[in-house]
Amino acid sequence: MPSDVRIAPSILAADQLRLGEQIRSIECADYVHFDVMDGMFVPNLTFGPGLLAQVKATCGLPVDAHLMIREPDRRFQAYLDAGADILTFHYEAQLHAHRTVRAIKDGGALAGIALNPGTPVSVLESLIDELDMVLVMSVNPGFGGQSFIEGTYGKLRQVRRMAEEHGVSPMVEVDGGIGVANAEAVVRAGADVLVAGSAVFGAQDPAAAVGEMRAAGRRGLPGGR
Ligand code: DX5
Ligand code: ZN
Repeated sequence: MPSDVRIAPSILAADQLRLGEQIRSIECADYVHFDVMDGMFVPNLTFGPGLLAQVKATCGLPVDAHLMIREPDRRFQAYLDAGADILTFHYEAQLHAHRTVRAIKDGGALAGIALNPGTPVSVLESLIDELDMVLVMSVNPGFGGQSFIEGTYGKLRQVRRMAEEHGVSPMVEVDGGIGVANAEAVVRAGADVLVAGSAVFGAQDPAAAVGEMRAAGRRGLPGGR
């Protein structure tokens, strides 16, 4: 089980015209969550490797890049070159997940696989030994500000159970509809990295929102904290 809770604010929800300032406001967080959408794998279009490099240069936090793009195996290298520290792609988006995971790790980043709400955890059975992170989507990817899907709790428990059976301990990230109200419950179910967009950048004080979410999440750790 996880020993601490990490918070990854998603800059998708930040004011894009004040991005530098917004990122500096969450330097108390653990990662910057960088959502890449290509307008094909998901209907929305966001950021590319050029902005990722600028984010890296602006802030001291590791960048947690979430690729919601088709054919990530052909396109991940640009995000590695731009400085992604964690690089996660969608299981549903390509055919050679194992090879892509190995290639990301060979490139010097941590490798993660994301699962859409409609994709069962069982697809990770032959991959989990290789993974640094499993990203369980708690909304259908593409947009911020959606409601958390309750079935996510069961999937988080399944990921933890599978990891224990395999004797591995990847980070387990949950993304979509996360806030103070459900942080404790997702950690109790097995998550240890919480992505939050609107709950952080929609708050009056983003740094305080990060602190509150971390404190709420820690109450879900074994023994509470
Ligand atoms: C959704 C993205 C999320 C999104 C979360 O496709 O992957 O990272 O920014 O936003 P909230 O926290 O507002 O649900
Ligand atoms: Zn994301």
